Amino acid sequence: MFSGRAWRLVKFGEPADAVELRQMTWTAPGPGQVLIRVRTAGAGYPDVMMAAGRFPLLGDPPFGLGEEAAGEVVAVPPGSRFAVSDQVTGITGFLEGWGGYAEYTYLREGSAIRIPAGMTDEQAGGFPIGFRTAYAGLVERAPVEAGQTLLVLGAAGSSGATAVQLGKALGATVIAVAGSPLKLEFCARNGADHGVNHRTEDLTARLAEITDGRGVDLIYDPVGGDTAALALKSIAHSGRIALVGLASGAPVALDTMDMLLRNYSAVGVLATPGAPEAETAVWGRLADLAARGAISTPVGRRYAFEDVPRMITEQRSPGPGKSVVRVAAR
Ligand SMILES: NC(=O)c1ccc[n+]([C@@H]2O[C@H](COP(=O)([O-])OP(=O)(O)OC[C@H]3O[C@@H](n4cnc5c(N)ncnc54)[C@H](OP(=O)(O)O)[C@@H]3O)[C@@H](O)[C@H]2O)c1
Repeated sequence: MFSGRAWRLVKFGEPADAVELRQMTWTAPGPGQVLIRVRTAGAGYPDVMMAAGRFPLLGDPPFGLGEEAAGEVVAVPPGSRFAVSDQVTGITGFLEGWGGYAEYTYLREGSAIRIPAGMTDEQAGGFPIGFRTAYAGLVERAPVEAGQTLLVLGAAGSSGATAVQLGKALGATVIAVAGSPLKLEFCARNGADHGVNHRTEDLTARLAEITDGRGVDLIYDPVGGDTAALALKSIAHSGRIALVGLASGAPVALDTMDMLLRNYSAVGVLATPGAPEAETAVWGRLADLAARGAISTPVGRRYAFEDVPRMITEQRSPGPGKSVVRVAAR
């Protein structure tokens, strides 16, 4: 049995009121779990949705927040492929109420990897969700091929920034859409070939210019709303939109007659684990890409463990890159 502190959502509402630090205990992990002592945990817009009661996969509080975490394994069930003292990162048991903003948490064994050499604690804590989602979108659900044009909305955000990197690693030409010069500079450093400011530029005109009028082959869409609807005007014949999220507040409204007449498709993307062997292979490929330096968590703001409620509030308008919470020192 392990004891420690954990940030828990105790009611829906403003994070300053709704998120409390509680003393908790963690019992031995069951089959399919490992228990870790957390060092870092990744953040994102889903924290905002969870605190507000708008996250579709969770019921009522209380529950722990934080979808991903990295640290040291302290307990495993019999037959686990991990061992005590392994340094790992992975997706937490947040759907069962065990989040990463805690001194200990359970990881899903099938969605965890040993931390590749050279990956910092912050990079490790912010690695799993963004890259697993990008993999689901760009490899499993709406595969992008080398030489194709990939438009990434919300490209400076947690999900978008990983899609920019994975898209480049897969050989695509990547166009990043973001809302400020600072964010576009970040996107360029993060590997994007082109950048468009959705607040100040004519997206349709810029995409026509960049693609010589052809349009974009794939739209990676964690944003939804009017921005995604506008981007769809620039989709190529046989193009696809990968529906990832709704950072604008609403999913994109699809016009099925337009889809028919302009011959494009929309694909839902949810980063849920596949069959165990296939899932292990996915994480192995992501770990390999990270070990080779082809992908690397673009760490943005860093927060102390004590600042989790403020951190969640700030996810409403995050700076560029992935926000990460330091829970404990190595
Ligand atoms: N499907 C899955 O498995 C999965 C996994 C993880 C996350 N998600 C979802 O993906 C969404 C994004 O999450 P995240 O953590 O990446 O969020 P994030 O880090 O907050 O990034 C969202 C980005 O969207 C941009 N944005 C917000 N409103 C916009 C608008 N109206 N037009 C254009 N851009 C806008 C923001 O910056 P600028 O506007 O300043 O550029 C921001 O950089 C959430 O809905 C989340 O639930 C889904």
